[in-house]
Amino acid sequence: MRIAVLTSGGDAPGMNAAIRAVVRNGIEQGHEVFGIWDGYRGLLEDRFFQLTSKDVSGMLSVGGTMLGTSRVPEFKEVPVQMVAYDNLKNRGIDALIVIGGDGSYRGALALHELGFQTVGIPGTIDNDVYGTDYTIGFHTALNTIVDAIDKLRDTSSSHRRCSIIEVMGRTSGDLALYAGICGGAEFIITPENPLNKEQLIKTLKKHHEEGRRHAIIVVTEQQFDVHKLAAEITIRSGFSSRATVLGYIQRGGSPVPADRILASRMGAYAVEKVMEGLSGVCVGVRNDELITSPLSEIINHPKERAELYDLVRKIK
Ligand code: ADP
Ligand code: F6P
Repeated sequence: MRIAVLTSGGDAPGMNAAIRAVVRNGIEQGHEVFGIWDGYRGLLEDRFFQLTSKDVSGMLSVGGTMLGTSRVPEFKEVPVQMVAYDNLKNRGIDALIVIGGDGSYRGALALHELGFQTVGIPGTIDNDVYGTDYTIGFHTALNTIVDAIDKLRDTSSSHRRCSIIEVMGRTSGDLALYAGICGGAEFIITPENPLNKEQLIKTLKKHHEEGRRHAIIVVTEQQFDVHKLAAEITIRSGFSSRATVLGYIQRGGSPVPADRILASRMGAYAVEKVMEGLSGVCVGVRNDELITSPLSEIINHPKERAELYDLVRKIK
């Protein structure tokens, strides 16, 4: 077979490990593997190149994506998807592996519905893909955030401050939730557990009166202005407050071992699912076992996090 692979959406640490596994296992099974530059952008512009085993040498530990990535809003339009379909066919490609998040999966599903064989691999720091317990990149980003929280706590307690840390995740609270648990945050504010400002200020005032020396609040991005909240906390709670927006450092860096293993397993497994003729599916991991799920069933499906929010209440 001629198998093509692309990375799409936000880059995530471990994407290279997944590409490496696709290439190595693909060649091992007797196939030809082609990389597509810059996600759906390169697919539309017909930018393909053949990948050898040597091309992916040394990539296991490198963050980002060696293939490049992009966001291509017009890929939602059927005539644009048809251009991609034609390019794949004209190149003699039999199957496409898409490494990305929920949005990239919609593109993969569109190509499947046009009749092209596609398999998805979940690559995003957000962990917002329903068909898998963990996405590639999540653990590395989590590690970066927890390291930042530990450092911010040092300075917060020295100055008796309340530190607000804004993390990525878009509409998913997983990075904030997991990092908040790991970092012992007093408050975790996510789309699933939104801000109750009056309650927050009341509790902070109580903590300040009890003599606590710091407070940590972890917030998922895009909900409200964290700097405005810090100013209000400073005026009303007794703690002075500062907000830190972690930004793109969360997406970079060498993947942690958990992401290298996950990406390697998923990459090799995706090739096997391609060989079995599966299409319109994505690979995932559930209870440490590799699985596949239909893309049509997992897109737009939120993950159930009641147990973890309950844990936060129990151990705060
Ligand atoms: P992620 O894959 O990390 O969720 P995005 O949501 O930005 O990232 O999606 C990546 C790309 O996937 C988009 O820029 C677009 O090219 C493609 N895409 C997103 N939504 C759709 C859709 N509804 N139909 C087709 N392609 C889509
Ligand atoms: O999907 C990954 C992600 O890092 C989100 O957490 C964030 O909202 C978004 O990408 C940022 O995207 P961009 O790189 O386009 O600014």
